[in-house]
Amino acid sequence: MVEIEEQNLSTRDTAIEEITTRLGVSAERGKRFAELTSLRVGGAVDWVLSPRTEEQAAALVHELAQKEIAWRPLGSGSNVLADDGAHHYVILSLKELKAAPVFTGDRVSVSAGYSLPRLCVDTARQGLAGIEGLNGIPGTVGGALWMNAGAFGQEIGTVVETVRVARAGQVVGIPGSEVKWNYRHTSFQDGELLLGATLLMHPDDPKEIEARMEKAKSQRMATQPHGARSAGCFFKNPPAASIGTGKMIDDLGMKGTRRGGAVVSPKHANFIVTEGEDAKAADALALAEEIRGRVKREHGIDLEYEVELWSSE
Ligand code: EPU
Repeated sequence: MVEIEEQNLSTRDTAIEEITTRLGVSAERGKRFAELTSLRVGGAVDWVLSPRTEEQAAALVHELAQKEIAWRPLGSGSNVLADDGAHHYVILSLKELKAAPVFTGDRVSVSAGYSLPRLCVDTARQGLAGIEGLNGIPGTVGGALWMNAGAFGQEIGTVVETVRVARAGQVVGIPGSEVKWNYRHTSFQDGELLLGATLLMHPDDPKEIEARMEKAKSQRMATQPHGARSAGCFFKNPPAASIGTGKMIDDLGMKGTRRGGAVVSPKHANFIVTEGEDAKAADALALAEEIRGRVKREHGIDLEYEVELWSSE
């Protein structure tokens, strides 16, 4: 059984080498999720493939699909908790899709790997409003689109005119109005690769946009941990509850609770941060499940994960 699996992997590896060489895509082996995610934990991954253009990325996933090679997209890894096992799939890194945004009137076209905070600054300078509240969210545009990132009353989905996705080897634009932009969730399906978007924004005085942007950033700095190894808010706020998840966990006295190298942030209780070289994904998961158990017992609420849990099995 193990032998068959190894044989399959080696056939797969040969195919990946052939495809990436032909398409000119950078391919790396020997990486760990601990290097690829902001929580700095998680096990080995077989391959990291990093296309440089949207067209190259679309061609790449098409070829992987034809060879039935499993892959997952990853941006800056700031909303992912991958377990400590060996992950036998391919990471399609969007980090190199970071060409400078193109401005046309009130529109901006940007690729998935571009930094979201940088885009907030760029659009504010151009006098375009709509995403200034998202300044300081440490992620890529692709990740923000995937989960409809939001903060301080704004969500990226509301300004998306077109999203570019990979379909049958091509870059295809779909209207933002055809996507369901829910709270930290969209109608995009696993297996869909987001390549970029055109945002239609609202003209406003750059000074006023920048002032709102700075306000959002300073509020974030004052209330959330920064510089720490986190994945942002760990759980969603429950839809029907009158208080948010952070306050609920805080009221249970759980700030500072530690399991191995994982700690409930003393600054915001809906953040789990990791510390030290020995921190494991299992520590963060154990702590998260302990929080869920307490909240269920005391409030009868089933907290839903806001971070994505990636399993090696
Ligand atoms: N609070 C506490 N203790 C805590 C945390 C919060 O008492 O440990 C209180 C605050 O003082 C405040 C209230 O709870 O009165 C709400 O807190 P906050 O303003 O921080 O908002 P939140 O609901 O906890 C949400 C988003 C954040 C986003 C902020 C600001 C979710 C799960 N969280 O947090 O998003 O940055 O609003 O808009 O929706 C994320 O998506 O990763 C994230 C961090």
